[in-house]
Formats: sequence, structure tokens, C-alpha cells
Amino acid sequence: MTYAATGGLSDPVFRLVYRSHSRIPGEDRPVTLAEILRGARSANARAGITGALLITDNWFVQALEGDESTVRALYERIRQDARHENVTLIESGSQDARVFSQWAMAQVSASGQADIPLEATEGEGVIRPAAATEPLTREQTAVLRAMRNCIGADVL
Ligand SMILES: Cc1cc2nc3c(=O)[nH]c(=O)nc-3n(C[C@H](O)[C@H](O)[C@H](O)COP(=O)(O)O)c2cc1C
Repeated sequence: MTYAATGGLSDPVFRLVYRSHSRIPGEDRPVTLAEILRGARSANARAGITGALLITDNWFVQALEGDESTVRALYERIRQDARHENVTLIESGSQDARVFSQWAMAQVSASGQADIPLEATEGEGVIRPAAATEPLTREQTAVLRAMRNCIGADVL
């Protein structure tokens, strides 16, 4: 599958944001979270999905961008995942363009730092380290702020 088939990286796109409560025990977190991110990045790169995953001790907030049916199917799969619960849809709809077009799945923290430059997607299935100095765009900042606001009470 190519981005041409799934919606180009700069074409209108469907974005879905949900929040969920982590069920991963504290001692398992580093390994399990690394597994989730590794799997998500390679599967998302193949499926033309981009996005960001905000992780705190107790919560996940994830933005998924791509072709609508692909994003909805992935969301249904993620909803069934026993590693989290109380999966709640925050927003979904068409957007003018991808906000996380460089990231098959960026990991972001709740602290508000510009911490998403982790791994960027370079075409289909190819992942390269993103430059640590790439500044966030206004759109990225706005979406990340909205994601962080979903769990505001938890992180204050
Ligand atoms: C918080 C969270 C986020 C996830 N994000 C993704 C993702 O972006 N892409 C993905 O393919 N799988 C993601 N997964 C993993 C899926 O839930 C699922 O395990 C994976 O798609 C494999 O599904 P399958 O076993 O039905 O093939 C995530 C899981 C969790 C708990």
C-alpha cells in the first residue's frame, strides 16, 4: 500500500483522538510501552497511518491520522487491546492535512516539552531518526495541547 492509495501525507485526512486508562503494571511499563511503540510504528508506516501517543503513568491519549476506514479499523483493534481500558473517543473528523506527517507514531510526554522528534517515517515502511531540533508547528502544538488537556487533572 502506498500513500497515494491511503491519502497522501499532505492531502485531507481523517484524524481520531482517544483517551484510555493504562492497565500496564508499573514494573512492566518500559518493556511493554517499547513493544507497543515498535509494533505501532512499523504497522502504521505500512498502513499510511501517522500520529502521536501521549503516555503518562495512568493514561494514554493517541491521535491517529490517515484514510478514514483504515483509521477506524485500527481504532477498533486498539479498543480491544487488554493493555488499556476505558477507551474514550475524544474527537474524530476530516482535517485539511496531517499534523504528524513525519511520525508513524511519535511518543509524547505530558510535560509540555517539544519531545516528539523520535522517529520519522520516510516513505513506506522506512523509519529514520528525526532531527532533535525540528521545531513543532503551530498545528502540532495545538493538537498536543488538546491531547494534554484531556488528562490535565492527572498530570497536575
Ligand atoms: C495505547 C495503545 C496504542 C496502540 N497504538 C497502535 C498503533 O498506533 N498502531 C498499531 O498497529 N497498533 C497499535 N496498538 C496495538 C494494537 O492494539 C494491536 O495490538 C496491534 O494492532 C496488533 O493487532 P492484532 O494482534 O489484532 O494484529 C496500540 C496498543 C495500545 C495499548
